[in-house]
Amino acid sequence: MNLFEHIKKFPFLVAPLAGYTDHPFRMLCREYGASLAYTEMVSEFTMATPRLRPRMEKLTYFTPDEKPVGIQLFGNRAEMFYDAAKAAEEMGFDIIDINFGCPVRKVAGSGSGASLLLDLPLAEKIVQNTVKAVKVPVSIKIRSGWDDKKTVFLDFNKMAEDNGVSAITLHPRTRMQMFKGRSNWEHIGILKSHSKLFVIGNGDVTSREDALRMQKETLCDAVMIGRAAIGNPFIFKEIADETYNPTLRERIMTAARHFELLYSLKGRFGMLESRKYFNKYLKGFDRASDVRQALMKMEDKDEILNFLKNMPEARSIINDEG
Ligand SMILES: Cc1cc2nc3c(=O)[nH]c(=O)nc-3n(C[C@H](O)[C@H](O)[C@H](O)COP(=O)(O)O)c2cc1C
Repeated sequence: MNLFEHIKKFPFLVAPLAGYTDHPFRMLCREYGASLAYTEMVSEFTMATPRLRPRMEKLTYFTPDEKPVGIQLFGNRAEMFYDAAKAAEEMGFDIIDINFGCPVRKVAGSGSGASLLLDLPLAEKIVQNTVKAVKVPVSIKIRSGWDDKKTVFLDFNKMAEDNGVSAITLHPRTRMQMFKGRSNWEHIGILKSHSKLFVIGNGDVTSREDALRMQKETLCDAVMIGRAAIGNPFIFKEIADETYNPTLRERIMTAARHFELLYSLKGRFGMLESRKYFNKYLKGFDRASDVRQALMKMEDKDEILNFLKNMPEARSIINDEG
């Protein structure tokens, strides 16, 4: 099936999130209904250089049951995007996204990510090399502009249309805003009314209501959710089913599964990484911080799993449910 036909059936996607959207995170979101998830941004140089590619193994790892799956590339060496995109397609990715939005100094300060919003000709070369390299669709992810003096999202849309891009995601903040203030959904509506591309709206969707409101207000083709999906893959099922509300037991069991997936992909490092999720999974549960503190002290995989699965809350609810 065509990727966009697949997305249209349930047009809610997972945003690329550095430090988060690895296989375990993406897999859980897919199981809870998200139609597509992207890897976090991967450097064009690393992807284009075979001897360096193994360094990205944990970021680019996916299993066949996760498909369709997207990869996001970032960088500013236009010529490298050709080999990077080719490698990504050979690895089996179904769509290649290009990052023109990352505001953090390490990325934007070195001429990549959002700083390319200031250099449309270079961004165009990057897009051309990527599109030329692959048969799978290419998308771009942008912010509204560098600062509030000038928006560039319509210029980027036109450039993308002219160069064979299939989809455009807009996070309607400027680079200077970083993550502050509110994202300006009006820009998504304006983009949709001008664009021939598949338009994906992104920014500050934290609930089912937000997701449906973004669709309604902007008429975007799909909604992309980032931070609100961290430790909360349930948000996708909540969007699909108004009556769904995960029980505490389900949240604990999903945290345990997330932990197992992380451990099997990354071993001890995965165990340390899992700590940043537990609080989110247990949000709203009044013993969450005690539980997190107890988990922080544990160093053994089975100890952690037994603790989670035998938490009285998990057990009593299991008992309640028979
Ligand atoms: C921790 C973190 C990491 C991010 N990493 C990426 C990334 O690798 N690539 C990207 O395009 N955007 C990245 N973003 C931006 C998100 O994809 C998204 O555009 C932004 O968070 C707004 O959506 P949200 O309000 O649903 O989180 C990141 C954001 C956060 C908070």
